[in-house]
Amino acid sequence: MNYDEIRKLFLNYFEQHGHKIVPSASLIPDDPTLLFTVAGMVPWKNIFLGNAVPAYPRVADVQKCIRAGGKHNDLDEVGFDGRHHTFFEMLGNWSFGDYFKEEAIKMSWDLLTNVLKLDPNRIVVTTHISDDEATKLWKKIAGKDAIRLDKDNWWSAGDTGPCGPCTEMHYDMGADLPGGLPGSTNEDGGRYVEIWNDVFMQYNRDANGNLTNLPKCNVDTGAGLERWAAVLQNVRDNYDTDLFQHLMDATSDVVHVARNAENTPSFKIIADHLRAVGFAIADGVIPSNTDRGYVIRRILRRAMRHGQLLGHNGPLLSALYPALVREMGAAYPELAREEKHVVEIIKNEENAFRDMLQSGMKLLESELPNVQNKTLPGAVAFKLFDTYGFPLDLTQMILRDRGMSVDVDGFNAAMREQKERSRADTRGTKILWESRGELPATDDTTKYAPVADMKSTVLAILRDGEFVDSAVPGDNVEIALDKTNFYGTQGGQVGDTGELRIGADTAVTVTEAARANNIVIHKGTVQKTINVGDIVTPVVNAIVRNQTTRAHTATHLLQAALRRVLNTDVEQRGSRVAPDSVRFDFSFGRAMTDDEKAAVEKLVNDWIAANMDVKHEEMSIDAARARGAMALFGEKYGDVVRVITAGDVSCELCGGTHVYHTGEIIRAKINKEKSVASGIRRITMSVGNLAE
Ligand code: ALA
Repeated sequence: MNYDEIRKLFLNYFEQHGHKIVPSASLIPDDPTLLFTVAGMVPWKNIFLGNAVPAYPRVADVQKCIRAGGKHNDLDEVGFDGRHHTFFEMLGNWSFGDYFKEEAIKMSWDLLTNVLKLDPNRIVVTTHISDDEATKLWKKIAGKDAIRLDKDNWWSAGDTGPCGPCTEMHYDMGADLPGGLPGSTNEDGGRYVEIWNDVFMQYNRDANGNLTNLPKCNVDTGAGLERWAAVLQNVRDNYDTDLFQHLMDATSDVVHVARNAENTPSFKIIADHLRAVGFAIADGVIPSNTDRGYVIRRILRRAMRHGQLLGHNGPLLSALYPALVREMGAAYPELAREEKHVVEIIKNEENAFRDMLQSGMKLLESELPNVQNKTLPGAVAFKLFDTYGFPLDLTQMILRDRGMSVDVDGFNAAMREQKERSRADTRGTKILWESRGELPATDDTTKYAPVADMKSTVLAILRDGEFVDSAVPGDNVEIALDKTNFYGTQGGQVGDTGELRIGADTAVTVTEAARANNIVIHKGTVQKTINVGDIVTPVVNAIVRNQTTRAHTATHLLQAALRRVLNTDVEQRGSRVAPDSVRFDFSFGRAMTDDEKAAVEKLVNDWIAANMDVKHEEMSIDAARARGAMALFGEKYGDVVRVITAGDVSCELCGGTHVYHTGEIIRAKINKEKSVASGIRRITMSVGNLAE
């Protein structure tokens, strides 16, 4: 039975047993606690928690999963045994408060032994030590004595959330293989392979580890399709099944090397990594230096290293992607739909890393003779990371093949040092401000609507790297006040300009309001002697502020327009909103065409012409999420957030200043669109009269 046939058989069985068949959800979960969809239950989490009402009480599907980071991580196992993958497909059936333990076990057993005709004697079952009910049911339904285990038979997707006891079915791959029964000390030997897990989702675990009952008793099951294929095709290694054989044959054609006993791990790793990288990018992940983008970049680079081991330095995963579409495109139409985009992104990544991989390997080879105690110094691993883009785990993987390891503490220390250095370089005097512990946070609540005649007290003056009590005309200074109207640079929006007045006189011309944590720092030049303790009036330059404000709202419209014209996966990667221009970085795999640029610009200007209302609201983060507000991935937000909604086209979490009607922006003009990093594009735009 090949993969397509097994998927069909599984889904048919559960359809006949009253389940609604649904397509796989995306690999990118709608869940901030997870990097990837790690199991079939991830898309159903809200139903288990009682936050969403299920459309069907029973469903079944084949879910794309990636386990390559976080709690569920199989990356290091890949290639060295026959049953681990970073990407895999999970067959699953669910009951949302419908059937529970008895029916779940009955169906699993029926499908395995009556439909697939697996030998009942080769199936070993385990239950949780606390679960007498499931244990009795196995005896009653299958005549089986379950092995009772603790941790291995308790399942959760993350550290918090729905969880419960589970019962696993293991298949005996053959008495001649090493390995003992589940729960024994040598259980990992490979003889018994877990082929199905029925989880009885009954509890919710909070951040303190406390369990509470879920509103209903649910069933979540998961079976690794690749393992089923091995069992049903009568092979012992998942990579000997049809799908992987075809992918490895395709790899052979690309690298012009035949497989043999010695190089097979590299073929396995490339086939596995092709699936993870290809599927993830097709679902919208862009290789990058953070979060899931970095996981994918690391996997891609590991694959390239294995290509190099096979003597191949040309395009690898980009050349193999069509083979993946051939093998799996029927089950997952998105693979073909996104083909051009995915191949382009992988190509960019491969091109960017190819030369670095060779130079980095040279450096590493030259260091190896100096290695003592089989441990590569952290500083060398860091240089490989910093200069040649070698993820730490790539260096570790290369060394493991030679029986060596990396001084990880040394690597982390080098990383910390570099961070400190770059912080000191780029943040300049901020360090000095942050180290002045006794200063209170600046009250800047009037920044969105500056008040006239504010009376503020000068709390501190910094000049030439030192805090002083007084400054005289001509001094370049930074000043902290107890309260201010100035918006200090934050969230991509550059700070206000203006002046600090004493009475009717200008005491300081402010060229930028910056921030050091909660302190707004007024940077500028003294015009009239100023002392700590003086009372000043902070006056914001309204013309410049208004222009920045236009630019910020226009940036939100730009993002909304990009998502409409290009696709909804476009994500903000950085921005700088200044009065004279906007710089907006976003994830996208290729240059925009002239037509696309024109369409985006037109959409933004149409929205400006429509003079839509722009609402500024404060609400809880949960309310904002419920509203569908866009937030920056990985950004930390407080409990109360500001939500900016422009008509019905844009809704974003944002602390910046904004217009109240889009017509105030006057006009927007895209000046340039270019690449800034692989998979990241930058648009520069001007607004208001500058755009006219
Ligand atoms: N959620 C369970 C697992 O992933 C079925 O094993």
